[in-house]
Amino acid sequence: MLVLGIESSCDDTAAAVWDDGTVRSNVVSSQTDLHEEYGGVVPELASRDHQRLIVPVVHRALDDASVEPSALDAVAVTHGPGLPGSLLVGLSFAKAFARGLDLPLIGMNHLEGHVYSVDLEPPAPERPFLCLVVSGGHTELVHVDENFHHDVLGRTRDDAAGEAFDKVAQLFGLGYPGGPAIDRHAEAGDPEFHDFPRTRLDDLDFSFSGLKTSVLYYLRDRSDAERTRLLGDHLDDLCASVQAAVVDVLVDALRRAVNETGAEHVAVVGGVAANSSLRQRVEALGREEGVGVSVPDPAYCMDNAAMIAQAGAQRLAAGHTSSPTLDADSNLQL
Ligand code: KG4
Ligand code: ZN
Repeated sequence: MLVLGIESSCDDTAAAVWDDGTVRSNVVSSQTDLHEEYGGVVPELASRDHQRLIVPVVHRALDDASVEPSALDAVAVTHGPGLPGSLLVGLSFAKAFARGLDLPLIGMNHLEGHVYSVDLEPPAPERPFLCLVVSGGHTELVHVDENFHHDVLGRTRDDAAGEAFDKVAQLFGLGYPGGPAIDRHAEAGDPEFHDFPRTRLDDLDFSFSGLKTSVLYYLRDRSDAERTRLLGDHLDDLCASVQAAVVDVLVDALRRAVNETGAEHVAVVGGVAANSSLRQRVEALGREEGVGVSVPDPAYCMDNAAMIAQAGAQRLAAGHTSSPTLDADSNLQL
């Protein structure tokens, strides 16, 4: 079965061709440069750029896969959550494309796409498993069973983990998106340079706004000369210290969830799952707790359409399709 996946929920225009478990093509056109000077995604600019890119990106995905549109069996597209203007570009294109070729349309939840990115590389984890979804807009700890039931055990009460990285990176003058830059700097830094706060809640919820505020005060309460010295001589150490605070909180919650639920397999997905320290710590958690671990290749952690096609194919196999009148839902929940 050949499925075309389309993703445009935020600032990446993406299309992929999925062929019975094999990713034949995976094209992502990232708008990072467009938004960098603003320190975050500007919705109007994002939707205009999706409009410019959606046709060439889909053509590239079909060309890379050497697949003619007439050979496709279905179109899977993200219809939420995300920026309304961005979602509408991918969704409108997919609806027209599917209609023109008389193909089934499968509207996908972007977060479900991240969850099922674990199945893109064999071996796929057995169900049920615990999944930590960590991205720029979401931090959710989810129990996943074999029937697309997603039981949310915990979620962030304020900032998402990726948002924490992005906001702190901005305070450090590292541009947007901040996660990859912090990861790079942290490699050479001392994670114990400064003890930034780790907010641990009684349940499995998360909170990262205190970390961002603490970094803000740490820099604000110093003289200009001292701040310049710290951001010059100790940028790597500061990045490593912030990264350690975020990763500690995530791994700690995952460990508690494993102990509370008796889960035998854990997965970490979403853009923040590309973080090198988080990846190492989750692998270590697997060994320590005796549970299986799935962390997708970094290319499948970041927003992409292969995960949308993968999840869409599973939905289609279970008999799910969407109406041609499907709407975008910017607040769609898991
Ligand atoms: O899943 P994603 O590509 O888009 C959303 O659905 O939000 O995630 C993007 C987020 C951004 O906040 C970015 O800073 C973060 O993932 N990120 C990272 C790394 N790579 C991307 N955070 C920490 N370390 C990384 N290596
Ligand atoms: Zn995402």
